[in-house]
Amino acid sequence: MADVKEWDWVINRHQPTAPVAGAGVLTAAGLAAAKAEITAWPDYAPTPLHDLAGLAGALGFARLFYKDESARFTLRSFKALGGAYAVIRQAQAFLKTRLGETVATADIRAGRYRDALADWTVCTATDGNHGRSVAWGAQMIGCRAVIYIHAEVSAGRQQAMEGFGAEVRRIAGNYDDSVRIAAETAAEADWVVVSDTSWPGYAAIPTDVMHGYMLMADEAIDQLDGRVPSHVFLQGGVGGMAAAVAATFELRFGAKRPKIIVAEPSLAACLFATAKAGAPVTIEGDLATLMAGLAAGEVSPLAWTVLRSVADGFVYVPDGDVPPLMRRLAAPAGSDPAVEAGESALCGLAAALRIAGEAEAAAAFQLDAASEVLIFGSEGATDPTLYAELVSAA
Ligand SMILES: Cc1ncc(COP(=O)(O)O)c(C=O)c1O
Repeated sequence: MADVKEWDWVINRHQPTAPVAGAGVLTAAGLAAAKAEITAWPDYAPTPLHDLAGLAGALGFARLFYKDESARFTLRSFKALGGAYAVIRQAQAFLKTRLGETVATADIRAGRYRDALADWTVCTATDGNHGRSVAWGAQMIGCRAVIYIHAEVSAGRQQAMEGFGAEVRRIAGNYDDSVRIAAETAAEADWVVVSDTSWPGYAAIPTDVMHGYMLMADEAIDQLDGRVPSHVFLQGGVGGMAAAVAATFELRFGAKRPKIIVAEPSLAACLFATAKAGAPVTIEGDLATLMAGLAAGEVSPLAWTVLRSVADGFVYVPDGDVPPLMRRLAAPAGSDPAVEAGESALCGLAAALRIAGEAEAAAAFQLDAASEVLIFGSEGATDPTLYAELVSAA
């Protein structure tokens, strides 16, 4: 990246004058279908929305709400909602071609089609959490999962996917290389690619994935019980999560939605670069950010279509902002609950603090002491060893 600032922000100048709900990509019907399916899974429960009054006061905001995805099923990240949902939908489509009838997803989950699915394979690339979701979904229904990871993905994350029965293959390049290799191998082997990112000609499955993520925002809106925050900060990898949450707010509140700001690590700020240029820009290199879930150099074009329409701004922050915030959430002052926030969970909060601390940026985003900020804490300790190291380091 030519830009060498420690952190930076940009206002989105590419919003259409007449926004289309969900940018025409994500729909209320898609969310309703995902909600009907996912809420029927065993052990489904909405994750908590914490009202962190102590931290809000300390940071200079009126309110600070934290949607805590460390409690999402047993996977400890919101990604559980996307990949596994898309796997089940694809299994249903596959069984329709094989059996000539649409079977109920409840029956697929109950294992009634394990024999028919035993030689059916889903494949994806991941920096950890999406692959875990795909592996979990595959295990739930009894199909095979082959997951490609890149050089920087930790051994702990690899083992977690293997723990769900997936075959994990490590490649030499970066995340974007693993996406290409997964797609090429799957095409040769006639496997179904269940990717969280999109590319030209490949949109339906990542759209399902994002519809699954929308449930997280839908839950948060319900938990806010009529209160509309002034600002939502969302971390971006390829942009799928940010697009899904942004679209959910836009579909529910239209012009009265909160300001939506997308945050990335400085080492993988492809959405920021894309927002500056007004069209997808690729970041090259190893993308070796501490925020492993956000280590993407190429945006999902579908996500960008939504974000260019709905996001108000884009920010990148340095890795060093994150560990102190992890420690602060783990050992809170006052009566706030302790929160387990993984390395990729706090990029949005870090961005809020950077913006609040610079007069020009704060004025541009109208972020001040009256602001009610909503953070999506997108993962807990998805790599427990790394989490323990970062939280205990002084
Ligand atoms: C914990 C966490 N937060 C946020 C993201 C960003 O999601 P997306 O790549 O859809 O932008 C990821 C992606 O893997 C993640 O693992």
